Amino acid sequence: MGMSGMTRRDVLAQAPKAAVAGALASGLVSGMSGQARAEADDSPLKSDRKIRVGIVGGGFGASFQWHEDPNCTVRAVSDLRPDRRDHLMKTYKCDKSYESLEKLILDKDIEAVAVFTGAPDHARHVLTVMNAGKHAISAVPACIQIEDAYKMKEMKEKTGLKYMMAETSYYRQNCIAARKLFQDGAFGELFYSEVEYYHPGIGAHKDGLSWWNGKKTWRYGLPPMFYPTHSTGLLIGVTGERLTDVSCLGWAPKDEIAWKDNVYNNPFGSCMALMKTDRGHMCRCGVFWDGTAHGERAQWFGTKLTYYMASSGGQPFALKGPGAPKWSDLPDFSYMLPKSMRHASGHGGSHTFLTHEFIAALVEDREPAVNLYEALAMTAPGLVAHQSALKGGEQLKVPSFDKA
Ligand SMILES: NC(=O)c1ccc[n+]([C@@H]2O[C@H](COP(=O)([O-])OP(=O)(O)OC[C@H]3O[C@@H](n4cnc5c(N)ncnc54)[C@H](O)[C@@H]3O)[C@@H](O)[C@H]2O)c1
Repeated sequence: MGMSGMTRRDVLAQAPKAAVAGALASGLVSGMSGQARAEADDSPLKSDRKIRVGIVGGGFGASFQWHEDPNCTVRAVSDLRPDRRDHLMKTYKCDKSYESLEKLILDKDIEAVAVFTGAPDHARHVLTVMNAGKHAISAVPACIQIEDAYKMKEMKEKTGLKYMMAETSYYRQNCIAARKLFQDGAFGELFYSEVEYYHPGIGAHKDGLSWWNGKKTWRYGLPPMFYPTHSTGLLIGVTGERLTDVSCLGWAPKDEIAWKDNVYNNPFGSCMALMKTDRGHMCRCGVFWDGTAHGERAQWFGTKLTYYMASSGGQPFALKGPGAPKWSDLPDFSYMLPKSMRHASGHGGSHTFLTHEFIAALVEDREPAVNLYEALAMTAPGLVAHQSALKGGEQLKVPSFDKA
């Protein structure tokens, strides 16, 4: 969740081209025929249309590739902080800035806004953007209160505007690979998954990101399960199923004061949940701010294939079972991107894909991959998990935000 660029593992996850041949030969990765087509073209999109975007939030929000997408033009940027406004203008080669999101949305020229403000502000800011008649993409999570999930659903259905959540796990190269294997039936029945996001130090008293200018930031004492989407996204982003029942436990180290006094009244530094899905499957879903393990990763267990992502504990990338394709490494998915964006990017190579998917959805007038329904399906189980942990692990139902 930090402003990380590529880790060594991320760089390795940018797959060697040689592996593509194996994937193609295996015939198990659907859509690969698109690769040859895209390689001859500059862009998978056949349109000259340019989506006019505004970008808000010059921390994490400055690590995307809006200026590189041939179908996008950055018309204005905004941050409350002048230094970050400047940084955004330089990064996206844009000469217009506004002092706040609230001012930026008055610009009639802008048709879509990227909201990369702090997590507790996403719902309010996305609602403000959509209320102004503009499409929105936000950083994760979609919201941190269930009531806001209802408001976002209502706004989407009232306006018909598009919303996307920039869930990085969805376009981690391993997640794209698992999704394609799932679509091709390689897993058999995928009946159990272990999905986890371990990021030691987030929200702790001594974490640099917990403080700005001598004041506590939104990260100070943040409940781990208010930030569940890097974990839940690794199941929902692969199979599309919904998490319906949640039982969660929480823990905190005794000597960490951030978990004793924070605006969230949150007593947990780390949480682990057991969740049931609408297909009767099991999911073990964790978010840890404590300990030493690190990473956004999953293990997917099917009747014909078990897929292990590499872990900080030494588990190597492995595909086991009769459903396993003969890959020595991951396929190269860069054919899904315009040529100008086919390079390494943050969080497992996901940033270029997230950028392009939002733009492509608007150009093609279709729902984006992690649309509002998927985003709330990834976010709400964590909010319910936090309540379950406060009740000592009581199993609770997760409300559905899907279309009736
Ligand atoms: N892997 C991931 O998906 C990932 C990684 C890092 C951060 N994030 C998320 O991205 C978001 C941003 O993270 P960050 O580290 O940059 O947070 P941050 O708190 O450092 O930055 C948020 C910025 O938003 C600006 N802002 C707030 N309200 C505004 C307004 N009304 N108008 C204009 N600007 C406003 C602030 O001035 C601040 O610079 C967070 O929600 C975070 O959780 C996600």
